[in-house]
Amino acid sequence: MARLLHIFAHPGRASSRINMALWRTAQVVDGISSLDLYARYPRYDIDIAAEQQRLLAHEVVLLQFPLFWYSAPALLKEWIDLTFEHGFAYGHGGDRLKGKRLMLALTAGGPEEAYGPQGYQHFDLRTFLTPFEQTARLCQMSFLPPYVLFGALTAEPAPHAQGFARLLEALRDDRFNGMRAASLPVLTHDTVPLLEGDQE
Ligand SMILES: Cc1cc2nc3c(=O)[nH]c(=O)nc-3n(C[C@H](O)[C@H](O)[C@H](O)COP(=O)(O)O)c2cc1C
Repeated sequence: MARLLHIFAHPGRASSRINMALWRTAQVVDGISSLDLYARYPRYDIDIAAEQQRLLAHEVVLLQFPLFWYSAPALLKEWIDLTFEHGFAYGHGGDRLKGKRLMLALTAGGPEEAYGPQGYQHFDLRTFLTPFEQTARLCQMSFLPPYVLFGALTAEPAPHAQGFARLLEALRDDRFNGMRAASLPVLTHDTVPLLEGDQE
């Protein structure tokens, strides 16, 4: 079993349709650690030492959030800024995250066709996510393709939530084929079942 840390960040949980459905689903998956970041730190007073210990205690770090201005909500950015510290995550002596895996699970209001050179978002989604990918690389972590729902304002939550549960279980049980996943730009609830198998 891989020790899986699930970090959830949504500042508007009362109005969330999709991310709250995923959060509730994750709560009934055994053997993973979940943290609701906005509930834990409503005043942004992040306990850096505790969060670094939390990272050290896990092998897979999964960040779940709605895409806000092509990035993560502010508290998740703050959490990364503070916990992925020089001398801990990178830089001289900073190799404590080495070998861990980082994955994003995000929802985007824009439709899939908007994310590309011909669409109104102009860039594909992975281009917007390169700061996360390079953060992982700098910290010697491997970056897995993100689990994504496009068109999140109108999409049905249930299939995406069910896919999320399958993904969590596969990661937890070392049944997630990272090599096969790496050939896909993003993962969806349709592709998760294809990635269950040997770990890498
Ligand atoms: C402040 C803010 C910024 C947003 N920025 C983006 C964006 O950059 N790209 C996008 O596709 N959707 C954007 N959205 C839409 C959200 O991603 C969408 O509402 C969310 O994924 C829906 O998930 P939920 O039902 O869990 O709230 C934004 C929404 C808000 C409130």
